[in-house]
Amino acid sequence: MKSLITTARLARPALEALIERASAIAEGSDRDAGALAGRAVATLFFEPSTRTRLSFELAARRLGAEVVSFDLTGSSASKGESERDTVLTVAAMGPEVLVVRHPTAGFPDQVREWTGRAVVNGGDGSREHPTQALADAVTLMRRLGRIDGLTMSIVGDIAHSRVAGSLMTVMPRLGAELVLAGPEHLLPDQPGFSVAADLDEVVAVSDVIYLLRVQRERGASAGEGYHRRWGLDGKRTARMRPDAVIMHPGPINRGVEISDEAADGPRSLILDQVANGVPTRMAVLATIAESLS
Ligand code: CP
Repeated sequence: MKSLITTARLARPALEALIERASAIAEGSDRDAGALAGRAVATLFFEPSTRTRLSFELAARRLGAEVVSFDLTGSSASKGESERDTVLTVAAMGPEVLVVRHPTAGFPDQVREWTGRAVVNGGDGSREHPTQALADAVTLMRRLGRIDGLTMSIVGDIAHSRVAGSLMTVMPRLGAELVLAGPEHLLPDQPGFSVAADLDEVVAVSDVIYLLRVQRERGASAGEGYHRRWGLDGKRTARMRPDAVIMHPGPINRGVEISDEAADGPRSLILDQVANGVPTRMAVLATIAESLS
């Protein structure tokens, strides 16, 4: 694997190898220690991030790389430097791997074309967030021991969610059945997936309830009564299957798509998803390191 921009080309064996590698790292294996020694990784974030950027930076450091970070506020972009010139400037400093987040779908492909470097997509517009879906797969494998045969309901603003964009490839490829649920104006035109009329229809029959934030920054609005119809609260949580779990890629909006009781209760894997983000990104970077000359 030379870059990771989309999950489309990750066949099941490649997904399983990444999940296995990340799980081994999470459980203490140091087989990848030094995988990026003598290398540099740059994070280029044209949109805000807490989880993705920090976990990539920790991951790269734990593999022995030097890390440099660009973020829009505080950069020379505010003096009128174009995005292409910004990218070429960072690349000129020599990092072998560029981790990119941008509001436009396809921007990471553009960065690879401009620089010829290894590129990892840290989230592009509403298209994909491959390492989030991988961290979620690692989280499920570590908690439930399987993905094959699980029913996962993705609930909320699916149309604007790059996480959903990657989950819709990764999870069925690993054998999960996906059900989409959300207000009509927040559902994508996605043939091939079951669609539920409301959260109550899926809450008692899902192994995983995967909640999404309404992405106001992309023009979405929750509308009147969103929490009542689509929010996971204590009452709905009590109707879930005995071993069913709650997931959310974060950031969460408490009182909108999820209540405190659901977010902080024993079924919630939200902080496990964050924790597994580091070994998952280590596994991705270590795999890419094998292809560096
Ligand atoms: N899940 C996720 O991408 O979070 P951040 O925006 O904080 O990176």
